[in-house]
Amino acid sequence: MADPRQGTVPDGLVTVDVARAVASIVAGGLVAMPTETVYGLGGDATNDGAVARIFAVKGRPTGHPLIVHIAAAEALDDWAAEVPRFVRDLAENCWPGPLTMLLRRSARVPDSVTGGRDTVGLRVPAHPMALDLLARSGRGIAAPSANRFGRVSPTTAQHVLDDLGSLLDPARDVILDGGASPVGVESTIVDCSVSPPQVLRPGGIPIADIEAVLGSSLAAAAGPSRAAGMLASHYAPRATVELAESSDAARRRAAVRTAAGEQVRILDYGDDLVLAARSLYADLRDADGAGTTRVIAVMPPAVGLGHAIRDRLTKAAAAR
Ligand code: TXA
Ligand code: MG
Repeated sequence: MADPRQGTVPDGLVTVDVARAVASIVAGGLVAMPTETVYGLGGDATNDGAVARIFAVKGRPTGHPLIVHIAAAEALDDWAAEVPRFVRDLAENCWPGPLTMLLRRSARVPDSVTGGRDTVGLRVPAHPMALDLLARSGRGIAAPSANRFGRVSPTTAQHVLDDLGSLLDPARDVILDGGASPVGVESTIVDCSVSPPQVLRPGGIPIADIEAVLGSSLAAAAGPSRAAGMLASHYAPRATVELAESSDAARRRAAVRTAAGEQVRILDYGDDLVLAARSLYADLRDADGAGTTRVIAVMPPAVGLGHAIRDRLTKAAAAR
């Protein structure tokens, strides 16, 4: 069935029909679902066959744990063994939203989801279609970002189709098209199983907002990131990424590189952090599609959402 929102790529995998996605999840199939951060490649978290296919389709090593998406904070006790008071406060104030909390897992969480760890990452996504899918399926949905392992995360259904279209099965899987992800960078991950809680990945909700709810400071992750499998290459396009501290510096470097015969694109969002987060991954994919060999990115200010964008850009620049 042609879907007018599909532009030039009609494809049996893509749908706006949540009921079809619910049927897929319940039958053990995969659903690439829109969230406010990025698209996730979801499956029933308690179905080992579905979880195994997530790893296979993504090409991800099985030791890297998956976030379990839940319909509401009330489901916390189903998935976590212990839920401290401060976690309930964070859930109440920040969910639905781009916050993932690591908690001691309950017996319901299979080893396949956590890679055998004793913690599970939980989050309630702030996207109406994802919430509808979660509520109507009655399942926890395990989902990593819906890109091939090591590529930039998808922020549109088309990105998912480009990366995974040939690996998904139209007979049992769907890509649920919920438009462009409004936040555009992945969730902030906080390990709430340690004291004080520790930030493992800066993301869509600023750390200061979380600290304001807690009334105390979070610990920064010491040394190499403790979130499993967070490699620099995860955020890298094919083009080489170079960082610049100002628009002027970016223009000067672009002139030099262009004179040397390179196809250069400057990414400069000024002080607009919301636009930067929302646009970054689509712009990196677009640069690759246009044959750009070098992206020169102007670093946004290190405040609020700027931390997450700087983190992703720094990783993209380090990946070579
Ligand atoms: O915004 C997001 O978080 C998106 C959307 C789809 O929800 N998901 C996402 O998932 O970014 P993923 O798998 O691409 O990144 C989650 C990161 C991975 O590096 C994973 O290994 C780590 O979090 N992680 C998940 N559960 C963990 C746990 N129990 N212990 C340590 N690291 C964990
Ligand atoms: Mg990812």
